[in-house]
Amino acid sequence: MLGNFTYCNPTKLYFGAGAVKGLGGELAKYGKNVVLIYGGGSVKKNGVYGEVTAILKESGKNVTEIAGVMPNPTLEKLYEGIKTARAAKADLLLAVGGGSVCDYAKALAVSVHCGEDPWEKYYVRFEEPSCEVVPVGCVLTMAGTGSEMNAGAVITNRETKMKVGHVFADERVMPRFSVLDPNYTLTLPRYQMAAGIYDIFNHICEQYFSGEDDNTSDYLSEGLMRSLLHSSRIANKDMQNYEARSNIMWTATWALNTLVSRGKSTDWMVHMLGQAVGAYTDATHGMTLAAVSLPYYRHIMPFGLKKFVRFAKNVWGVDPQGKTDTEIAEAGLAAMESWMKEMGLVMHIGELGATEDMIDGIAASTLVMDGGYKVLGRDEIVKILKESL
Ligand code: NZQ
Ligand code: ZN
Repeated sequence: MLGNFTYCNPTKLYFGAGAVKGLGGELAKYGKNVVLIYGGGSVKKNGVYGEVTAILKESGKNVTEIAGVMPNPTLEKLYEGIKTARAAKADLLLAVGGGSVCDYAKALAVSVHCGEDPWEKYYVRFEEPSCEVVPVGCVLTMAGTGSEMNAGAVITNRETKMKVGHVFADERVMPRFSVLDPNYTLTLPRYQMAAGIYDIFNHICEQYFSGEDDNTSDYLSEGLMRSLLHSSRIANKDMQNYEARSNIMWTATWALNTLVSRGKSTDWMVHMLGQAVGAYTDATHGMTLAAVSLPYYRHIMPFGLKKFVRFAKNVWGVDPQGKTDTEIAEAGLAAMESWMKEMGLVMHIGELGATEDMIDGIAASTLVMDGGYKVLGRDEIVKILKESL
């Protein structure tokens, strides 16, 4: 553990079957005006909306709704929400949905009282909020992003074709509470479940594949990855398996609630590539990551060989006997590839709507991070994207 850090996570979690019972007590802590935020309607079909609105009613809240938050929420939708939340004099933003809805609520939280253009301030200049931040609470319906316990908010600017995540340093942006009932995730279509599982896995990889010191975070990451692989295989065969789905939900939270990044520089290049693909195709987040991952990891493997060897042995159970380090590392990535195929993940960006003529634009939209084993040049980004096609 060679890095120095501060650790604080103020989000209170209510986890398990019936966890929504905790909502009433949380609502009592805030003023009367609640802005209820949800997506395209899945919460109405599966009954979650009904449960939440009954509790809001019992709690005597004035409820204003922002419906139709789309996957990969847009800046336009954020501008619309700012008007609604201002008019409602929001005391609490209650997100009911997946990562898109939770992210949107956080972006809104820092924008309602912001006197400037939120895109310029938070997504171009990456500033922290200097205004009042409206409290956010989440009722999560999809496991994947970790948005329920972090300060990340990803917004897509369709005009400039930029999909940008801001992980706020300000703890006020983190959800004050989140309700995590694994039953709520059981209605997810298989495609979304698989995308969420890969998102979780990649969040852990992004933090694991950095640094060379002996770091507790890496051991925690290996444990999380092994638990996820185990549960994902069960859920893949039996989607209604509560035990597996609950482990997946809990792993998602710990994969990206800042714990396993402590003391590490962290990589995040798969996310930068995936987000740029997302900006051009509006594809499902987890699938954009899956489609660029193997070309990326195979490209950087020689620069972080020791860690890839450790990954192969400790996560994938590769037997090192009689193999060179490169062979061990390659066997680890081959095992990962076969798990990805077993999970039905999208392995090529072409399947997500990306075309050859988009490559230069996607490459230009890709932010370059410097915390991993190799700082990519533009030519390398183009090469990886072409291999992902
Ligand atoms: O809109 P509805 O009708 O609710 O349908 C959603 C949506 O179509 C559906 N869904 C969610 N829960 C469901 C359900 N359908 C049936 N039953 C349920 N229980 O699933 C679809 C996808 O939902 P979405 O919220 O978009 O998925 P996800 O949780 O993967 O969130 C993706 C967004 O989060 C960002 C991504 O970039 C993307 O914009 N991320 C946020 C991060 C963070 N805050 O730290 C980190 C991640 O890396 C990621 O970038
Ligand atoms: Zn992600």
